[in-house]
This record gives sequence, structure tokens and C-alpha cells, in this order.
Amino acid sequence: MDNKNVFDTIPKIFKEAEDFLPLNGTDYIELYVGNAKQSAHFYKTALGFQDLAYAGLETGIEDRASYVLQQGKIRIVLTTPLNSESEIGQHILNHGDGVKVIALWVDDAVKSFEETVKRGAKPYLEPITEEDENGKVIKSGIYTYGETVHLFIERKNYHGIFLPGYIEHKTNYNPKDVGLKYVDHMVGNVGWGEMNKWADYYARVMGFANLITFDDKDISTQFTALMSKVMTNGNGRIKFPINEPAEGAKKSQIEEYLDFYNGAGVQHIAVATDDILETVKEMTRRGVDFLYVPGNYYDTVLDRCGEIDEDILQLKELGILVDRDDEGYLLQIFTKPIEDRPTLFFEIIQRKGAQSFGKGNFKALFESIEAEQAKRGTL
Ligand code: FE2
Repeated sequence: MDNKNVFDTIPKIFKEAEDFLPLNGTDYIELYVGNAKQSAHFYKTALGFQDLAYAGLETGIEDRASYVLQQGKIRIVLTTPLNSESEIGQHILNHGDGVKVIALWVDDAVKSFEETVKRGAKPYLEPITEEDENGKVIKSGIYTYGETVHLFIERKNYHGIFLPGYIEHKTNYNPKDVGLKYVDHMVGNVGWGEMNKWADYYARVMGFANLITFDDKDISTQFTALMSKVMTNGNGRIKFPINEPAEGAKKSQIEEYLDFYNGAGVQHIAVATDDILETVKEMTRRGVDFLYVPGNYYDTVLDRCGEIDEDILQLKELGILVDRDDEGYLLQIFTKPIEDRPTLFFEIIQRKGAQSFGKGNFKALFESIEAEQAKRGTL
């Protein structure tokens, strides 16, 4: 399917039904990690996140330590277990470091829970109220694919630094941000034949609509293929593409992910910047590895995408990809996995009108991923 005016279709899709799950945006993303203190150092040094809050032994929490980092509107929580019986530890044993919680900011966490559970969501957290001297927060939660969960966070009566139980966290190590602004989309990888099941889950249980579908013809190379459905909520602030592997001559990146993550989970977090050249330059300087794009990609990219504001030589030097749809163009680049298991990675994206997902880059991108897989012996 072509990408034209995909966002114009959102109001039409939602016109008929009342949005029973209004979402204000992504509240935070929580990762379970083997060593939160060291991960926080990486997120600050390499990705430009800033210290925000902390919970752990010093704040009366006995089973975990959590570091909350912020950049623009993006909040990342890095949580590690403090004992061997913890279910957090079990999660890390199963999956390695990865995203456990995609928290969504809502005005009514009780209603969000009731409406989704009524429509078939599996409960993860019954609504609870947490309070401290800065007010109260109501939280609830449901399961999504794999062991991943959505928490609904109602914080209109809270004025603290993050959530009750967290204290402000400051250190004397404060590398500058790299210009990341907000979460553009978050992609889930699910098992063979499960894309429609989970796309349907987001439609039925959370009231999302299918913005675009990419079939295995859209997303294939000589060797591998995958399929993807992009699901969006009513106001377009939350977009969750869902990928599944498709038959190809060799093992696709989605199968590799499923093998190493030991099931379905978050594949990548796409974060927006309004100056991708500066952001990527700075991240590269700080040691982030990006996927390599063959130099000949740039021989034809302007034929495909037309005039752009940026200097093509600079884009080539940094490996930034370009794509265009009817509304404008976008610039994007993908990191290599940010942990040893080839699982979670980041996408940096700058939208200059385009609201699509870089379909024109899929082939170059997946060939680049295949080259990485070949090095790992997992192609
Ligand atoms: Fe993406």
C-alpha cells in the first residue's frame, strides 16, 4: 500500500466510534536490565539522557533499583533486581535486557483499565493509588505481546519529580543531551502468524486503527522478508507497528530477534529529533554504532526523494537514510542493537512533513541488517 496522506485517514477511521481509551502520550518506557547503574551511565553518555529520579534501597525499596532518565519528553526507567527471587531477574533471564513497560499517560486510569479489560485485555495491575507529599497517582496495567505490559498512568493530581516513591536524582556527571525530543513510535516483534492477532488486539482492546500494512512484498530482500501493520490510537500520538517474520530463503531479522529475546517483545524505539545531523554526529562521537548503509544508496536517493534541505554528502558520511511521501520527507537512521543479544535497538527520525515510516528504505536497511546477521552467524 502507498503511504499517501495516511494521517488524513485517522480522523475518518475514528469518526464513527467514540475513543474509549484517550491517550495523552507515552508516559515512560521501563526496561528491565542486568545492571541499572551501569545502564544509566550508557544512556547518559551515549544517548544524551539526563538524571531525573531514583528509587531503591535508599528510598525504602528493597527488591529493585530504578533510575529514571529524561530527554525532551522521553522518560526512560532502568530497573534491576536486588535479589535472586525477583520476577525482574526471571524476566532478564528469559529475555536479556529489554522493554518491560510501555506506560501510557491517561486522564483516567480506572476507566482505561475497565474499558480494556472489558474488551478482553489480560489484567497486569488492578488500579492502585500511590501517594506521597506531592500528591497522588493512579496506575493500572494490562498485558500485551509476550511479557510486555502497558501501564496506564493518571498523574493529574501529582506534582512530584516522577512518581510517588521516587526521589530526585542528581550526580556530578551530566553529559549534554543529543537533541532527542519525543517517542515517535515503538515497534513490537511477534511470532509467526501472530501479526494479525496483535493488530486485532490493539484494534479491539485499545480502540486503535490500522494506519498502514506492509506485506512481505513491501519488506523483502533477496534473502529475507517480514510483514508489518502499523496501529495508531485516535489522536495519532501513539503508534505501534507490529512485525512478524515471513518466509524467505534465509532467517529474517525478526526470527533472530524472537530466538534471542525468547519470544515477542519490543524491537525498536523510534525517537524524534529536529536536527538529525547534529544528533547523529554527537551520538557517533559518543560511541553509538549505527547500521552501515552501502555508499551507492546515495547515488540514487535524490532521484527517488527529490530536493531536500540537507547536504547529501553529510547524510552519506553519517549513514542517514531519506524517504519521501506525499506530505514531505523524513530522515532516519538505526543503531545496532544496544545490548549483546541482537534484540532492542533505537531509531532516530526527523520528520519534515512525511508521516510515513521509510518504506523506500526498507530494502537498503534490511540488506544492512542481513550483513550484521551474517557476521553473527544468524542469517
Ligand atoms: Fe521504525
